[in-house]
Amino acid sequence: MTIVEGTEMTVPPTEPRHIALRFTDGQVREFDADPEEAILTAAKRAGHTLVSQCTVGTCGTCVGTLIDGAAEMPAGQLSALSKDEVSAGQRLLCQTRALRDSSFDLEYPSTLLEAHPPVAFRAKISRLSWVADTVVELELKVPKTIKFGFAAGQYCRIQVPGTEEWRSYSIASGEHERFRLTFLIRILPSGVMSDFLRDGARTGQVLDLEGPLGGFVLEPAPRPTILMAGGTGLAPMLSMLDRLRTVQPTPPILLLFGCNRPAELFHEDELAARVSFIPTLEVRTVLMDNEGRDDLPAGTPLSVLHPGDVLPDTVAYLCGPPPMIRAAEERFGELGLPAHDIRAEQFVPSEN
Ligand code: FES
Repeated sequence: MTIVEGTEMTVPPTEPRHIALRFTDGQVREFDADPEEAILTAAKRAGHTLVSQCTVGTCGTCVGTLIDGAAEMPAGQLSALSKDEVSAGQRLLCQTRALRDSSFDLEYPSTLLEAHPPVAFRAKISRLSWVADTVVELELKVPKTIKFGFAAGQYCRIQVPGTEEWRSYSIASGEHERFRLTFLIRILPSGVMSDFLRDGARTGQVLDLEGPLGGFVLEPAPRPTILMAGGTGLAPMLSMLDRLRTVQPTPPILLLFGCNRPAELFHEDELAARVSFIPTLEVRTVLMDNEGRDDLPAGTPLSVLHPGDVLPDTVAYLCGPPPMIRAAEERFGELGLPAHDIRAEQFVPSEN
């Protein structure tokens, strides 16, 4: 997270601003927002529920891109967006006030929330596997009585048992496995969820969840797709691959996956299996430090992206740490990909 040095809000006239939100399925929602009213609040008042979570500017799920008009977030406030992202037009709609009539692009279809409304539910740990030195795969069994479904790429919040702490993790399983959810969780040297998974978690234990959340989802129409994942950023990509393989015709898919070192690498077999049953999929795995695995290139996921990989009409999905996301957004921009065809979900580190 970074402090965004926004410019001073101009003194607003009293008239409401006309707001238009355009979704990936081409639908447009229009409503008025009062000058001091956040876009998210105004949309809700008008009966349009948008993807959001924290409503205080820290989670980044409510992001939209300003395509017309003028709209600002308050200066000097903690924000999930970097200065560059704000300069590129991105705005957190829970914090944004329109200075005049404005239009925004949203990166999810208008039907997402009606199709998969977030619910609070409980689920049992059915499996907990260490898949690398620093990565746990957590499998949860969701009771079939729960009305739960999700779109590939979305995430859930999970409460750390015995605490008031919640953590957000992308769902790694496919949409059809909504009663058997898997998550890939990076284990830190210390941290409440890491400590719980390392020392306290056991099969059969019940966890509290909320979800699905987030608007990092695939476009409805098939397009050449590049997926770029750093570490456990692979989770939403696995779910997206499960979805993409059902799309006919299956578009060309390139997955660029990077980990720090061999002991942190995971799911090589899982990816090889997907290559075998998705003929249009190519996977390039890379290690920052490849000592002992010189069959894999050393570098970052971005270092194994070649200019020829960006085909006409390509859409890119990025998930990983903020430096990877920022570098990839810049590179894809240089390669001619418009900003609205670069979708990103970044890890927001927790303080504990
Ligand atoms: S809802 Fe979390 S940043 Fe807006």
